[in-house]
Amino acid sequence: MDLSSNYMGLKLKHPIVVSSCPLSETLDGIKTLEDSGASAIVMFSLFEEQIRRENEAFDNLMESASGSFAESSDFFPQIDDVEKGPEQYLNLLSNAVAATDIPIVGSLNGITNEGWIDYAKQIQQAGASALELNVYYIPTDITQSGADVEQRYFDILQSVKSSVSIPVAVKLSPFFSATGHFAKRLDEAGADGLVLFNRFFQPDFNLDTLQVDPRAHLGSAEEIRVPLLWIAVLHDQVRASLAASRGVQSSTEIVKYLLAGADVVMVASALMRHGPQYLQVLIDELDSWLSVRDYASVNEIRGKMSHKHVVNPDEFERVNYIKALGSGGRKSL
Ligand SMILES: Cc1cc2nc3c(=O)[nH]c(=O)nc-3n(C[C@H](O)[C@H](O)[C@H](O)COP(=O)(O)O)c2cc1C
Repeated sequence: MDLSSNYMGLKLKHPIVVSSCPLSETLDGIKTLEDSGASAIVMFSLFEEQIRRENEAFDNLMESASGSFAESSDFFPQIDDVEKGPEQYLNLLSNAVAATDIPIVGSLNGITNEGWIDYAKQIQQAGASALELNVYYIPTDITQSGADVEQRYFDILQSVKSSVSIPVAVKLSPFFSATGHFAKRLDEAGADGLVLFNRFFQPDFNLDTLQVDPRAHLGSAEEIRVPLLWIAVLHDQVRASLAASRGVQSSTEIVKYLLAGADVVMVASALMRHGPQYLQVLIDELDSWLSVRDYASVNEIRGKMSHKHVVNPDEFERVNYIKALGSGGRKSL
């Protein structure tokens, strides 16, 4: 079975990539992921906040940043708890590149278009094959327009693209009023890859303490629905590679994402739940799903069910929504 895949020009032995998560926080962890069969690894993120702390400008940022920044920072480990500063991150990255034979993708997570972006260049110098940019911005300032929020992404992308020559992917949230149009504009602005989607911060309330509960939860297969839709819509409509992220628990979700048109499928929660060795299960299951149906390569199914390629694209649209709501009183429609 030919599972070989191409992500932003990187030649991968199969389409299953380890998503940015704590499994890549140590060199041993990275080597285990490779030994378990990963085709590429996106490292955990280096946060703008960590870089700023290192530059002793973090306090100033906290004072001048909008409320949205303070809130989104709750999602992440307390800054004091973060042991891995930028230097450790770059060292780990270059050691990982030296110790493995698969592409290692650096990950930068930030929200402003300022000095921290220099680290993109350093990530390239440390040997990363590509860079993933996660602009994790929660616009809680309700005077800020959608256009302003989108502009933030473009500004960051432009700065990063002008400082590195390795491919750059942008990891998005699904919360844009016209997700497809925004993705297309990022594509036009030079994004080499689009990662759809980030697990976005959705705070819960703790009713005992009456505090906001910022914990991140591991994903479930139900979560593929939104990325599946947008990958299906964007397939063959943008030049950038498409990476599916969210909800992969088994090869079922991987096959669906590939049918929608994903170039690669990223996995985090399932590997944290079952351990890195679960990668081999996913690869074997994908292989056998294809063999049983007499496919010779993964390329044969990629995009087969995208918006452009399904026989009836209406199935992605409003008509199916009405059907999905059930027959009942809507029969008369
Ligand atoms: C514990 C944990 C830590 C994560 N850390 C990062 C991170 O540092 N940077 C990032 O871009 N995404 C991070 N993510 C998001 C994952 O890369 C991925 O996009 C998301 O979890 C959805 O995929 P999944 O359903 O396979 O978990 C993290 C996810 C989890 C569960």
